[in-house]
Amino acid sequence: MTAQLIDGNALSKQLRAQVAIDAAKLTAQGVKPGLAVVLVGENSASQVYVRNKVKACEEAGFHSVLEKYDATLAETDLLQRVHALNNDASIHGILVQLPLPAHIDAQKVIEAISPAKDVDGFHIASAGALMTGMKGFWPCTPYGCMKMLESIGYSLKGKHAVVMGRSNIVGKPMALMLLQQNATVTICHSGTVNLKDITLQADVIVAAVGKRNVLTADMVKPGAVVLDVGMNRNDEGKLCGDVDFEGVKEVAGYITPVPGGVGPMTITMLLVNTLESAQNALNTTQAI
Ligand code: GUN
Repeated sequence: MTAQLIDGNALSKQLRAQVAIDAAKLTAQGVKPGLAVVLVGENSASQVYVRNKVKACEEAGFHSVLEKYDATLAETDLLQRVHALNNDASIHGILVQLPLPAHIDAQKVIEAISPAKDVDGFHIASAGALMTGMKGFWPCTPYGCMKMLESIGYSLKGKHAVVMGRSNIVGKPMALMLLQQNATVTICHSGTVNLKDITLQADVIVAAVGKRNVLTADMVKPGAVVLDVGMNRNDEGKLCGDVDFEGVKEVAGYITPVPGGVGPMTITMLLVNTLESAQNALNTTQAI
């Protein structure tokens, strides 16, 4: 193996310890960071994610609220709950777990969340803020990837970063964050021709496609940094990413494993965003 591992568990532990210290300080000043997680329906993966988010909040000393609703919940009722949470001073972050049942317009629900409490960073105001370099919450998974690059002291200036995948949650915001750090950014997707020619030019590759083995050793320039956002299952049912880890680790300079790479960072950045929102709330009350 030539690549060095970027350990998302270790980095998360370090960042979460600091979040807990800062949360205790805020609590002592009268503002306990609070996150509300809303889950609609019985999606089993969502149930696991939500449980992990609530557990992480509790471990960081946050106030956490989990609202679970039946899959038949009406869209208007969900919108009402979001409005109530917008007006709840004990809540600084609102997360509506996706996917939502098909009868609910997910975008409409996301747009109902106050941008000041949009700790997922999915609201169009948050997306617009990221695009224009204004203050706003960054989506947690790409934000976690940026923290991982920071943790190895990697300077993106002048580097070629290739993002595989163009989702609103990972690919597009990831590209904007890399661009903000002065990388030259290429976004690849299902319509990309000659994918390998492009990835072979990359100094940094972020794989966020949602399919196993989309990045193999022959597609990676020696020494490149490879961040694997994928969460898939292999034939034996074991968790794996988008990257052929065994092959790529022999070529890359740095690589994130799955599990234990980007995954834990997503929840860590959710805590970071919620803490920041609580800090903003304290600053606002002090300014009045
Ligand atoms: N479903 C899968 N990942 C996420 C996430 O980061 N936030 C929300 N709200 N739903 C998700």
